Amino acid sequence: MSTTTWIHKDLIGINELSAAEILMVLDTARAFKEVGKRPVKKVPSLRGKTMVNLFVEPSTRTRSSFELAAKRLSADVLNIDKTSSSIVKGESLKDTALNLQALNTDIIVIRHSAAGAPLFLAQRLQASVVNAGDGAHEHPTQALLDAFTIRETKGRIEGLNVTILGDIMYSRVARSNILLLTKLGAHVTLSGPSTLVPRVFEQFGCRVTHNMDEAIAGADVINLLRIQHERQRKTMFPGLGEYTAMFGLTKARFAQTKPDAMIMHPGPINRGVEIDSEIADCERSVILQQVTNGLAVRMAVLFLCAGGKLSTDSSS
Ligand code: CP
Repeated sequence: MSTTTWIHKDLIGINELSAAEILMVLDTARAFKEVGKRPVKKVPSLRGKTMVNLFVEPSTRTRSSFELAAKRLSADVLNIDKTSSSIVKGESLKDTALNLQALNTDIIVIRHSAAGAPLFLAQRLQASVVNAGDGAHEHPTQALLDAFTIRETKGRIEGLNVTILGDIMYSRVARSNILLLTKLGAHVTLSGPSTLVPRVFEQFGCRVTHNMDEAIAGADVINLLRIQHERQRKTMFPGLGEYTAMFGLTKARFAQTKPDAMIMHPGPINRGVEIDSEIADCERSVILQQVTNGLAVRMAVLFLCAGGKLSTDSSS
């Protein structure tokens, strides 16, 4: 049992959060999830605040989730993407952000292909900066919503066997999940081709195996990642057919999993590549539950970073 107070202006990564702070986000999100079940799905927590969604890389889930989260908290929202901004005319990220701050923006949510872009802004702006995914570095709200979904389904995180499969090396989702899950006491196994899952990840406290059957045996949670073609500099395996045969969650492999193993995926899914299409839609799949929970988690993050005062008693 611990009492925690939120002290962060920004959310750059899970790396900067303690276990107690992670639990505080999850507890706050649980309260906000109730708001989504009301006939009027809105609270005045961020009334008068302005949030900018600055997405310099494509997104479906994260961008729409942050926009809805801010609107449910009664904030004013501005959406800016690369193609419709002066970034295409050569304006620097810093100048774009300073101009947004000059409009009295309170929160900037940023997705960028460059690792470190959110930290760069956070160090230069008075506005809160929230990382919505930066290169292969971190995607903290994805890890928080994944943890929320695991805790909601399994009732705990500590002691669970969580297997993350696929393109670990180029995945910000994997990095944030590894940091979060090990902080909360889960046993994390990583698997995929050796070119995408190097043994160096053992230094993060994970088990690394390149044997898929070994990786899924005994897993309480299986989290599948897509191949990050946009971040790979060369082909790291012979072809997608070989990848599916060796590392995809096929029906035959699914039959070997624990009967209550959760199937997770951050999206976007490449059906028939990392996951069989029917498994993606089966009753053990929580992929759309993850999306629903993302909204509550992002409401919690915006609320806390904008100075929402809440102390919680937490235990995982
Ligand atoms: N999971 C995730 O980040 O999805 P988007 O790229 O659609 O935001």
